[in-house]
Amino acid sequence: MSDLSLFLGQLIRRPTEIRAIAPTASAAAREMARIVRPDMQAVAEIGAGTGTITRAILDRGLAAERLELYELNAAFCDRLRSLFPGTTVHNRPAQDMVNVGRGGLDAVISGVPTLPMSDEMQHAIVGSALWMLKPGAPFVQITYGTQPPLSARVRADLGLTHTRSRRIWMNLPPAQVYVFRQAPG
Ligand SMILES: C[S@@+](CC[C@H](N)C(=O)[O-])C[C@H]1O[C@@H](n2cnc3c(N)ncnc32)[C@H](O)[C@@H]1O
Repeated sequence: MSDLSLFLGQLIRRPTEIRAIAPTASAAAREMARIVRPDMQAVAEIGAGTGTITRAILDRGLAAERLELYELNAAFCDRLRSLFPGTTVHNRPAQDMVNVGRGGLDAVISGVPTLPMSDEMQHAIVGSALWMLKPGAPFVQITYGTQPPLSARVRADLGLTHTRSRRIWMNLPPAQVYVFRQAPG
């Protein structure tokens, strides 16, 4: 089965978890991965789906053994394990990272659809990632909306600043990439 057929089949079964009409296109996946460097020691991707962003991360020259993937959907996890040997694939929600992952992360790259989530869920996911990230390291989030993908309250509670990319029209729907960092202190 192709990645697209797998994605669409799971979208029909679990629309509230997936919340996108197609896998991320390569231009947006490259923008998500732009921050990754080959000398990074540990990177996590959350909501990896069928692996389009994963591929872009590895194309940046990061060794597969330095990449951990978190994905709720078991069928997607099976696909990720076969496509990306050497990576560690956790069939766990991203907010469990704090219990099962490795610390000292240089970056977290997120395809999890945070925009429609409650503040409590956004806080759990991003708070868990921040706990595992090195101080000031980036949390990269894709979004299809025109507003930041984390609420003003969550950004203020967690002390986050952000930058954002231009809108990427070659994606369905058009996307933007935000890079969040926790301000010192
Ligand atoms: C919009 S899809 C993106 C998939 C892939 N990253 C891509 O770009 O094509 C969102 C993915 O996040 C996963 N997901 C949703 N909530 C999650 C959570 N709390 N923890 C981990 N994965 C989650 C879904 O199962 C789905 O695979």
